[in-house]
Amino acid sequence: MAPWITRLGPMTTPPPVDPTTTSAWADLTTHHESLDADLRSWFAADPARAERLTFEAGDLWVDLSKNLVTDETLALLVRLAQEVGLTDRTEAMFTGEHINVTEDRAVLHTALRRTPGTRPPLVVDGQQVDDDVAAELDKLSAFADQVRSGEWTGVSGKRVETVVNIGIGGSDLGPVMIYEALAPYRQAGLTVRFVSNIDPTDVAQKTADLDPETTLFIVASKTFGTLETLTNARLARAWLLDGLVARGAIADDDEARRTAVGKHFVAVSTALDKVAAFGIDPANAFGFWDWVGGRYSVGSAIGTSLAIAVGPDRFRELLDGFRIIDEHFRTAPLERNVPTLMGLLNVWYVNFLGAASHAVLPYAQQLHRFAAYLQQLTMESNGKSVRWDGSPVTTATGEVFWGEPGTNGQHAFYQLIHQGTQLIPADFIAVARPAYPLVDAEGDGGAVSAGADVHELFLANFFAQTKALAFGKTADEVRAEGTPEHIVSARVFPGNRPTTSILAPALTPSVVGQLVALYEHITFTQGIVWGIDSFDQWGVELGKKLALEIAPAVSGDEAALAAQDPSTQSLLRRYRALRGA
Ligand code: F6P
Repeated sequence: MAPWITRLGPMTTPPPVDPTTTSAWADLTTHHESLDADLRSWFAADPARAERLTFEAGDLWVDLSKNLVTDETLALLVRLAQEVGLTDRTEAMFTGEHINVTEDRAVLHTALRRTPGTRPPLVVDGQQVDDDVAAELDKLSAFADQVRSGEWTGVSGKRVETVVNIGIGGSDLGPVMIYEALAPYRQAGLTVRFVSNIDPTDVAQKTADLDPETTLFIVASKTFGTLETLTNARLARAWLLDGLVARGAIADDDEARRTAVGKHFVAVSTALDKVAAFGIDPANAFGFWDWVGGRYSVGSAIGTSLAIAVGPDRFRELLDGFRIIDEHFRTAPLERNVPTLMGLLNVWYVNFLGAASHAVLPYAQQLHRFAAYLQQLTMESNGKSVRWDGSPVTTATGEVFWGEPGTNGQHAFYQLIHQGTQLIPADFIAVARPAYPLVDAEGDGGAVSAGADVHELFLANFFAQTKALAFGKTADEVRAEGTPEHIVSARVFPGNRPTTSILAPALTPSVVGQLVALYEHITFTQGIVWGIDSFDQWGVELGKKLALEIAPAVSGDEAALAAQDPSTQSLLRRYRALRGA
């Protein structure tokens, strides 16, 4: 294929289509100007709206009807996707083209969850991808089984009771989120903790009550060059060896220390040479490949802690869930393609309705880390100002994603979503069958009847909130309740606050995988419309570099201090004074 000449030089990826130059964009602009969004009247005039605008992807039932769109809006958005070449770009991703242009890499997290035995096999840049993925999955599964069964022991022969995953960003957020989401599937007597922050508090607190003889560390780092992770790994190694020596579990010599590290440390990385240099036997390392982005890596060996916690079979079910949505995204027509439609809705809100943020509100306590996970996925992917050919973006990009589980959020920030001046589209996520089906035997003698199913009380809030946000409460309705006139306006709910409702049967490993893949492909869709390389993250580099440069100044090096700007110098001097230095 002849390379395209772009600002970055020749590249095999065609330059992005500027969405604002498409005819769909022009039509969306006109359409937006004439659209008088009113969910109350739309639903009143069109009883079939909910049914028509509800879609299914795998086990996910996705109701888009409470969004500020008409059929025409959706048709225009789908045309926009066609005009920017979404389908071609999707195919390019699945087949291993180097769509991560600035790093010249394929983007193949979907290859981690292909149906085993798919023909033809996926071969990318000469690599037999399917074979390598299957071999690594088998290796980590066997290791997980050894830890779970007690066959893998610590240096003194005791079985592992606590696994500590040391990693940050994509080497932490996905595993933590899913570990919490799949809490009911964990093996009793085996706990996983996650250390990520270089704040020494993190490793100190997470190891404080642990027994080194029964603790296994997984050092998870794609690059094996991340300051936080390697520092924490060294702290953990020192903690382990000091603890083992102090209790007489190992001799106080180098050989005994090496043996202990071999039994208590494993690694996950694409850089197995650096793993060896750190002192971890490559035989105890699980690999993956540079075509798996950090924030897309939970289905790779980065999920080793999960495979230990819930077992390799459940881990494979998680991958099955990813695959269900991958296949839907790759094959469903755009007008019924859920990740595509949700990504396009986000584009609609950001570019035409001026939304700057997007709330994700799981009505499932087990998803309490879902928003944190999504923040890296969405914002590290689409928080960009230049396109994949190096030219400036032509529209706003990358909205802020945030959220908390319902009902906690209701008692914190929903006020602003209901009555504030900003438009905040929100995704509400719920499951029908709870992990803990508790009943309130007593009830409260009023609204909560004796024997009430508490999950149903909980989900009443899920249904109520999207209804309140969509339809609001008019001044006349407020007055009709006898509200004094001077507070009527304060009690009006304007409505027309857009939401998407996602309902799944239960929080199974497959459903969790489906949710993650859904948001991965939503993020991809937005990135393609905006012309962004959603798979690089150059914006994190400058701060990392400066931190290393400033470190000597923090420790009192006068020359390094003098080289700083006046504000940084003044802060550093104050810091040093506070430390008594
Ligand atoms: O600093 C950002 C980042 O590069 C993320 O993209 C990545 O997930 C994280 O750091 C951790 O990187 P690694 O897995 O290489 O330690």
